[in-house]
Amino acid sequence: MLDFSNKTVLITGSTRGIGRAIAEEFAKYKANVIITGRVEDKAKEVADKLAQTYGVKTLGVGIDLAEPSSVEEAFKKINEHFEGVDILVNNAGITKDTLFIRMKLEDWEEVLKVNLTGTFLVTKQVVRYMTKKRWGRIINITSVVGFTGNVGQVNYSTTKAGLIGLTKSLAKELAPRNVLVNAVAPGFIETDMTEVLKEEIKEHYKKQIPLGRFGKPEEVARVVLFLASPMADYITGEVIHVNGGMY
Ligand SMILES: NC(=O)c1ccc[n+]([C@@H]2O[C@H](COP(=O)([O-])OP(=O)(O)OC[C@H]3O[C@@H](n4cnc5c(N)ncnc54)[C@H](O)[C@@H]3O)[C@@H](O)[C@H]2O)c1
Repeated sequence: MLDFSNKTVLITGSTRGIGRAIAEEFAKYKANVIITGRVEDKAKEVADKLAQTYGVKTLGVGIDLAEPSSVEEAFKKINEHFEGVDILVNNAGITKDTLFIRMKLEDWEEVLKVNLTGTFLVTKQVVRYMTKKRWGRIINITSVVGFTGNVGQVNYSTTKAGLIGLTKSLAKELAPRNVLVNAVAPGFIETDMTEVLKEEIKEHYKKQIPLGRFGKPEEVARVVLFLASPMADYITGEVIHVNGGMY
């Protein structure tokens, strides 16, 4: 039986989609949960709902990962409520898809800022506490396209491949302090991010998935919980694929 009752978990981008499912699973197993998203009211709403449903301590905070000052401000609030973050899930991510030939510098920079630099900034805020405590878990949400590449996603797939390098290097640096760093690479999952795809594109992708369907957010969330649990105490620097067999 999973039990995170003495742990505080922060999930970036947890107001909806995969992040929200991860937050819900952790709350179910008694963790304190910090919900973050760009819109603070929305983060608070989700946090209140989880507190009511599962009777755990929660906090909703607005963070714009594209703004270093926003990350700093958010952590001032977080540190008023919690001693520190034991488990960090770097989940928030954006796409700005277009063919490379049409991709503008701002399309490139915006995606790098949120997906890569945002992860760097949030991780910086939590590692000191984790290393001091000699216990911590960092789980980065990358993507199958970080391995395979994808048409129209040069910016996005670059960030997802970058997160794998970050995961593996940081895992080596932090292992002596028992802080484990791993990644989960989802394939196509039913969220707002894939909802925007045209029906024929969805069908095209489904044909490449041996299980014949998109995944559900909770199917990714459960793997994140596994990596944060004592069942994964000897795993670090690893990437687990959750993609219905497509890669
Ligand atoms: N949905 C998929 O098929 C799929 C596949 C592979 C990987 N992923 C990855 O999983 C993660 C979650 O994806 P999702 O499908 O749930 O996405 P989503 O678009 O449904 O949710 C994204 C979350 O990120 C937050 N966010 C966006 N920009 C932000 C910013 N500037 N600052 C702070 N928060 C911000 C949003 O508020 C939201 O909570 C992303 O990293 C995504 O790249 C998704």
